[in-house]
Amino acid sequence: MSSSRDKNALYLPWNECISIASVLIGAYASYKYYKLCKAQDIPRPKDGVEQLIGNTPLVQIRSLSKATGVNIYAKLELCNPAGSAKDRVALNIIKTAEERGELIRGEPGWVFEGTSGSTGISIAMVCNALGYRAHISLPDDTSLEKLALLESLGATVNKVKPASIVDPNQYVNAAKKACDDLSKEGNGVKAVFADQFENEANWRVHYQTTGPEIAHQMEGKIDAFIAGCGTGGTITGVAKYLKESAKIPCHVVLADPQGSGFYNRINYGVMYDYVEKEGTRRRHQVDTIVEGIGLNRITQNFHMGEEFIDESIRVNDTQAIRMAKYLSVNDGLFVGSSTAINAVAAVQIAKRLPPGANIVIIACDSGSRHLSKFWKEAKQMEYDISLKEITGGIR
Ligand SMILES: Cc1ncc(COP(=O)(O)O)c(C=O)c1O
Repeated sequence: MSSSRDKNALYLPWNECISIASVLIGAYASYKYYKLCKAQDIPRPKDGVEQLIGNTPLVQIRSLSKATGVNIYAKLELCNPAGSAKDRVALNIIKTAEERGELIRGEPGWVFEGTSGSTGISIAMVCNALGYRAHISLPDDTSLEKLALLESLGATVNKVKPASIVDPNQYVNAAKKACDDLSKEGNGVKAVFADQFENEANWRVHYQTTGPEIAHQMEGKIDAFIAGCGTGGTITGVAKYLKESAKIPCHVVLADPQGSGFYNRINYGVMYDYVEKEGTRRRHQVDTIVEGIGLNRITQNFHMGEEFIDESIRVNDTQAIRMAKYLSVNDGLFVGSSTAINAVAAVQIAKRLPPGANIVIIACDSGSRHLSKFWKEAKQMEYDISLKEITGGIR
């Protein structure tokens, strides 16, 4: 008996051979398919840093989605190579200047800008990648991280006192003057004033890239889109695109920090904030710890998109500070102040939407840009802060 089993051990019946072969073929095909999918996920090598701009990820904020029953996603603009949505703007402003012959690739050229930080960093990075120089004017109370980054990128930095836009020494006016001065020298060096507040290359790049990316990532199903407004480029470009092309109506919300005039402008048609009242201001421009958003004037980039903004929600500094800590400890999402403002507004909007609806917010930059100012306060917040404590006082 044992000899007959040994004799047959070398030979499997043909139907068993076929089963084993089909299992092996199936496993091999699955392995090849897995490899192919992985390969498609990995982007091909790029020719330069500027080509890494855009195509940023979208991530669900699990804690807020679970608490509200509405899916809340963050468009991670902080994943751009210089760390913010402003990379797109810097690249498009420079490309537009090249198309107009105001800058010539391979020849010396300067880009001037007045900015409270992010745009300057993006301009400095893109200038370096494309062979130009950057000259950045900014308020002297801009966070130390941003200053250090600009200096590390080799930009020429011009610090001015925070001032109203009507003051000739306000940082935007100072940048324009520095650009005019270099042009007047007439030594043939090209000089361009980026002018992010008025330059329409700003909103157009969000219309051409950020908006379509969000629509694609969400398969067109976005019930609400929330962003802050600094120049207005992001909200205008994305809102216009989503209103024109999304599969379902999209409610566009401008999340506004304290001290900014957009809240009253959008909801009541008047650009005014109560802190404008004589004798109440602590700081020129917008009286908030939040950087990058909030303004008390109408810019061209805001003007182009105002008709697409349905509502504004005001968020105060305390709410923003608490939300930043909440997102950090509950989701591992370490964000800057403007993202925290958007997240507070998202929770408020979620209360009005049906379960399962989708909200997208912009996560413009990372918390590491704000360590010495905003996060100096945010890190002091308790670990187990509740959403109720954050959103309780929303007007
Ligand atoms: C951190 C941050 N968030 C949001 C914004 C607002 O973007 P936009 O200028 O497109 O309105 C800015 C603008 O500089 C910013 O720096």
